[in-house]
Amino acid sequence: MPIAEIYGPDDFADRPKGQATPTPVAPARSGTLPRPLLEWTGEVERATAPIYERVKHVIPAIEWPLMAPTIHAINQLKRERNAVILAHNYQAPEIFHGVADIGGDSLQLAVEATKVKADIIVQCGVHFMAETSKLLNPDKTVLIPDTRAGCSLAASITGADVRLLREKFPGVPVVAYVNTSAEVKAEVDICCTSSNAVQVVESLNAPRVIFLPDRYLATYVASKTDVKIIAWKGACEVHERFTGEELRAFRDADPSVQIIAHPECPPDVLAEADFTGSTAHMINWVRERRPKRLVMITECSMADNVRAELPDVEMLRPCNLCPHMKRITLANILESLLTLGEEVTIDPALAGRARRSVERMINLKN
Ligand code: 13P
Ligand code: SF4
Repeated sequence: MPIAEIYGPDDFADRPKGQATPTPVAPARSGTLPRPLLEWTGEVERATAPIYERVKHVIPAIEWPLMAPTIHAINQLKRERNAVILAHNYQAPEIFHGVADIGGDSLQLAVEATKVKADIIVQCGVHFMAETSKLLNPDKTVLIPDTRAGCSLAASITGADVRLLREKFPGVPVVAYVNTSAEVKAEVDICCTSSNAVQVVESLNAPRVIFLPDRYLATYVASKTDVKIIAWKGACEVHERFTGEELRAFRDADPSVQIIAHPECPPDVLAEADFTGSTAHMINWVRERRPKRLVMITECSMADNVRAELPDVEMLRPCNLCPHMKRITLANILESLLTLGEEVTIDPALAGRARRSVERMINLKN
């Protein structure tokens, strides 16, 4: 079924101006550690050799001596700080395979964040992901290496917009994709990720559901359920750029090629795909099927991370990078661990309400 109705900022005359307010970050704490010497030494070469073995198919040997000293320093500092690094599947291979303790999609990272024992979480992903970790770990220090790592979906809607939608549709439950600010999460009934969106919508047992802010994920969910979906006009600036035409060109070049796509893509793209799923579901699909030639229609670094693990799968890569994810670098992860900046903070009253929406999702039985 197509989505029933769709709204956006222009549809509410009395909408307050402005974008979602990012949650403030606390100033860097005192206790900065001395900067390590970043040199390519025999010790660095030995200590990072097992890591290079994992990424050798995607990082040229000539580049390794430039990255390895920072990777080594980060891994040492993590122990010293009792810190854990969570990395989204879209992080570059030197981060995802080089320094992350836990990698995964948005749902896996949220679930893993509930189990963290370390004192400090360094979130290698975008701001809403760091907020989710903070919501689930209010007593831990959550750091994001660059606070400018935003998301076009999170920026498309405010808490005030959700209140306007609720006034327009009294009694209709509201589901927010996790790609939203804590301020928005505080206004909704439950969160979802692309791994569980259909399940979350159906768990509400309602004939109509407001699903925000991704119009394309909403369209995908509407195609999989009888629940009437009221959507918001948000979109991921990375996935909305793919086109069905681009995918058909890959098929014309090689009819045996397999194409898998993320549900944040427009419907004409998903119509051409052999499989649609969240980043974790896409990775599992590749692990199980091992196609000879594959096109992954999602953020570009994920193809590198999968190829590092499965070099026998040939990746054809229409390369769309997420500029927000790419703000996280080895250099600023090191800086975060040295200075304990930037710490993510969330107003406790708002955090309590936002946490409820995330926990309600996590507690849903499979
Ligand atoms: P998932 O990893 O949950 O599929 O999300 C994709 C995404 O765009 C995160 O920003
Ligand atoms: Fe947001 Fe899209 Fe980047 Fe994910 S890939 S962080 S949805 S802009």
